[in-house]
Amino acid sequence: MTPIDQPIQLAAETVMGEWSILPSWIPVPGMGALPVNAFVLQGCEPMLVDTGLAALSDDMLARLAAEIDLEDLRWIWLSHTDADHIGNLDRILALAPNATVVTNFLGAGKMGMIGAGDPARTRLLEPGEVFELGGRRLHQLKPPYYDAPETMGFFDETDRVLFVADAFGALLPGSGEAIEAVPEDALREGLVAWSTVDAPWLAQMDQGALGDTLRALNTLQPAHVLSGHLPVAHHVEILTGIVRAAYGRGTTDAVSQATATQVEAILA
Ligand SMILES: [Fe+2]
Ligand SMILES: [Fe+2]
Repeated sequence: MTPIDQPIQLAAETVMGEWSILPSWIPVPGMGALPVNAFVLQGCEPMLVDTGLAALSDDMLARLAAEIDLEDLRWIWLSHTDADHIGNLDRILALAPNATVVTNFLGAGKMGMIGAGDPARTRLLEPGEVFELGGRRLHQLKPPYYDAPETMGFFDETDRVLFVADAFGALLPGSGEAIEAVPEDALREGLVAWSTVDAPWLAQMDQGALGDTLRALNTLQPAHVLSGHLPVAHHVEILTGIVRAAYGRGTTDAVSQATATQVEAILA
């Protein structure tokens, strides 16, 4: 991994099939580097997931335009309204005349308060609503932890891609494209460090409830885990295992009835 001393936007990389990642990294003095990712889904209804950092706006727009013709962009899924996720929203909306923002009632309300986005170009998802686009079904999913209540992750049943917004973010030694390049200890320490900062309430969460939520993610068996703050991962059980060991020892590895019901609801 490469130590960094200033924010950097990297070129898009294919995750699999029609999914790609637009990675950027910001230095966190004394602690390493934090990934800040957006994602692109190609296809007949192309979608951007989050919009990157305003501090890297020109580079982000250039990398995005190299990946997709902005005239073709149909949807912009916003995980939540933090600055590192909507940093380039208005600029992209101006350049992508056919794009509509996908968010929920609270997300739209918070954007309205800061004058971001455009209510006339917003698609509000109802709680639990399955978002259908280009022959795919994205199941809304509340990540196991988050830092803003409007947060919406999703599970793409076609490619088994799980998007978890801020969850599983990690402070890492330096920039790099593959999670396989991150030493095991560095991943564990960096993930716990960032989650402690970003979601301090994790330490107060009921351990059984946390264990249920983490096991539910394992049960989904995603092929790819997309986090806003981690290189693309492929083994969710490694990530859930780190969180469970740090915050909730859980009880057993058995899937409880509550967990099974939760997973069925996600997949309904
Ligand atoms: Fe956030
Ligand atoms: Fe974030």
